[in-house]
Amino acid sequence: MEKIIIDTDIGVDDAIALRYGMLTCDVLGYTCSYGNVAVETAVKNCKLAMSKYGSNIPVFKGASRPLSRKPLPLSTHIHGKDGLGAYYDNPFDAEAPDAVHFIIEQARKYPGEVNLLTIGPMTNLALALNLCPELPKLLKRVISMGGAFGTDGNCGNMTQFAEFNIYNDPEAADLVFASELPLVVVPLDVTHRILITDKQIASTNDDFMVNISAFYIEFSKKFEKFAGMCVHDAQVVSYLLYPEKYKTIDTRIAVSTSGYTDGQTIRPMTDYNVPDDKFKGRPNHTVCLDVDVDFIRDSMLETLKMK
Ligand code: BDR
Ligand code: CA
Repeated sequence: MEKIIIDTDIGVDDAIALRYGMLTCDVLGYTCSYGNVAVETAVKNCKLAMSKYGSNIPVFKGASRPLSRKPLPLSTHIHGKDGLGAYYDNPFDAEAPDAVHFIIEQARKYPGEVNLLTIGPMTNLALALNLCPELPKLLKRVISMGGAFGTDGNCGNMTQFAEFNIYNDPEAADLVFASELPLVVVPLDVTHRILITDKQIASTNDDFMVNISAFYIEFSKKFEKFAGMCVHDAQVVSYLLYPEKYKTIDTRIAVSTSGYTDGQTIRPMTDYNVPDDKFKGRPNHTVCLDVDVDFIRDSMLETLKMK
């Protein structure tokens, strides 16, 4: 089984990713950040989710704000006021050991074995890179849900150009993309295509999943005109399990950090406004641009049915 750490700002699709991860991988821990919810709520939500599944996977608390800018408003209108569909009372506290140190410690303990899956803003990872410049050599892989490259005809979900996780901390994302981390990016281009309906989630017979999803599905139908909910974050696990089901390109990536394109993920050939030196010295990373929709959706649903 692959060793993973999931770095999360746990909203509804994050919770599905956490469950998918614990059913298929050896989860070393969940590291939390701000994003969909405040970092304190993220810690509480991870603890709640683990309690529902009788799991004692450890939870860690990381960044409460972006590297160098003001935090954005939380996504309570999408994921509910607690980030988990406002269905459960949460009896847990927000105490947890430091997430950034945990990531570094695990990478050093298991060199070349740890997959870090990021499904929120990239702030914790950027902080870990700053503290531990050898991190790219220690991690087996980083798989990140984030960004939008426009290949599906749509770009961002925050602005016309920017995706939520990158838009929350463009400087952190740019630092990660500039690094030698063995990075795979799973952008909106593919995550927008995996939709789960209320009937499909009900077919898992997973009460926790069904209860937390109702609010998010309602939002997705009403405001995004989707037939169900996008399970963006679960696809970092899908990619880890089934990389051959994704069509990818290798490219250098930069992030716009100002102006109307703030938060946009850019690759050299698609943007003529960014000076070339923005990409100078950057290594290639892997970006998913197409996906076997039926296989990825159905295999995830089958796994979520496992008790
Ligand atoms: C990302 O934004 C968040 O709201 C989701 O949890 C996902 O990580 C999609 O853009
Ligand atoms: Ca997320």
